[in-house]
Amino acid sequence: MTIERTFSIVKPDAVGRNQIGAIYHRLESAGLTIVAAKMLRLTEQQAQGFYAEHEGKPFYAPLIEFMTSGPVMVQVLEGDNAITRYRELMGKTNPEEAACGTLRADYAESTRLNAVHGSDSPESAAREIAYFFSDDEICPRD
Ligand code: TYD
Ligand code: MG
Repeated sequence: MTIERTFSIVKPDAVGRNQIGAIYHRLESAGLTIVAAKMLRLTEQQAQGFYAEHEGKPFYAPLIEFMTSGPVMVQVLEGDNAITRYRELMGKTNPEEAACGTLRADYAESTRLNAVHGSDSPESAAREIAYFFSDDEICPRD
């Protein structure tokens, strides 16, 4: 067992369709435990900093506009091999390429409006968790 933490966002498209509960149900059913969560509306500065690795790419400006277009849910997920398992649960970035039964196959509309975010490595997970949560906001189970 390798218990890991990963960082997740339910993006503005899914929040706007009242799909928070459905997506949380899928996370928990897959054995991922939500150990921190909050709703917020990202500022442009927060979204730009979060997606800094993509600065300069053609999709960067529309991505920032989308991510600031409405509230998001941000959460920390904990579980065995959580980083890889949550990426698998999400499916590929483009929902047309996402495997059946993945979150993006079921909830994403397009590559941009793709319902969920998940950290892609242990380094990203650590950076992204710390970007939104202080240690005292994370509540592991006893
Ligand atoms: P990326 O980190 O490549 O994907 P993932 O979310 O699967 O880790 O890209 C970040 C986000 O940028 C992606 O979720 C949606 C958006 N995006 C586009 O709008 N167009 C694109 O061609 C790509 C690659 C990403
Ligand atoms: Mg990514």
